[in-house]
Amino acid sequence: MKYNFDEIIDRHGTDCLKYDFGMKRKGRDDLLPMWVADMDFRLPDEILAELRRRVDHGIFGYTDPLDDYFEALNCWYSSRYGFTVDPEWVTLGAGLVYAIHLSVRAFTAPGDGVMVMQPVYYPFSEAIRNNGRKLVNCQLRYENGRYSIDFEALECKMREENVKALVFCNPHNPVGRVWTEEELTKVAELCLANDVTLMVDEIHSDFIFPGHRFFSCMNLEEKYRKILAFYSSPGKTFNIAGLQSANIIIPDEALRAKYRKANREAGYSQANVMGQAALIACYRLGAEWVDELTAYIYENVQYAKAFISENLPKAKVVDPDGTYLLWVDFSGYGITQDELEDRILNRAKLWLDAGAIFGAETALFERFNLATPRSVVEEAMSRLKSAFEDL
Ligand SMILES: Cc1ncc(COP(=O)(O)O)c(C=O)c1O
Repeated sequence: MKYNFDEIIDRHGTDCLKYDFGMKRKGRDDLLPMWVADMDFRLPDEILAELRRRVDHGIFGYTDPLDDYFEALNCWYSSRYGFTVDPEWVTLGAGLVYAIHLSVRAFTAPGDGVMVMQPVYYPFSEAIRNNGRKLVNCQLRYENGRYSIDFEALECKMREENVKALVFCNPHNPVGRVWTEEELTKVAELCLANDVTLMVDEIHSDFIFPGHRFFSCMNLEEKYRKILAFYSSPGKTFNIAGLQSANIIIPDEALRAKYRKANREAGYSQANVMGQAALIACYRLGAEWVDELTAYIYENVQYAKAFISENLPKAKVVDPDGTYLLWVDFSGYGITQDELEDRILNRAKLWLDAGAIFGAETALFERFNLATPRSVVEEAMSRLKSAFEDL
């Protein structure tokens, strides 16, 4: 390996949401945090040198993307996923959560149904509720430890619940599914047939494990583009969420006009200058780092899976196809949600994302963030084991 992902970097005292807010948010300052999707790895020197060069210029005024921005974007997309985008289709935004909120306002009217597939990244549901739309959940099927889409329910609910948009996650946070070409095409077909705008969040798309292939919504046939909004960001891949770099890519002119109108009404104009510089540097120089990082995370997942199956036999790991998130089912312990949370927080002293926030049916699940050095994963697993030993 060229890069060292084993290095422990102290993040305390950097105004870090993941590490510095235990007392404020959880009432404890001794927690090992594995909650928010934020990685503990430093960017490689070649990317940091580009950022330093920009910082050393010393002036950070308004900015707008030029050709080199779109070249870097397309270089990443074409080399990894085999598609390119027309710069005209791209609108920058202050993060994907912002863009998804805005899109709900742009593409639907108050009272319309907007669909999600729970368990799913909870800000999707917040974007729908915060904007006075009706949350329509098409619960993913969970059978034999694996998640799949319930296409019958999807079709039925689209028709019956006045659904105007679907917020779709690929790869799917928290369950780790990388949807296949066939699955994604079926979803797109149902959206097209029912006049539903297909909003696809691909923020985790660079973390794909051996045996799986990422099929982007931009690889779908052209006919689906009239209902398609694609949400893309280097924020997870390079852990630059704090720089708020996001691309909202809408090939269809009329749909794009709706998004841009809502964007103007919200008063958004230029992007974050460092976010823009970071995207260019990361997409130009980061490919090898991301490949090694994904291999490292895959090994973390293998380690955690093996540990849990050996030492916590009543817990079931949902084998992820990608992402750095591990979704674990603790329902086999026969304990309540409160007891589960108490054991995780006060016995294991782990700060995880509780399953309940991703949907009501998964209250006995926990989401672990494994984008951290192996020794941290080992420590977390050993804490977990002690917290459940008596059961
Ligand atoms: C599926 C998904 N979308 C969006 C985000 C956040 O995006 P942003 O930081 O650009 O708002 C996350 C962060 O965890 C995520 O998991």
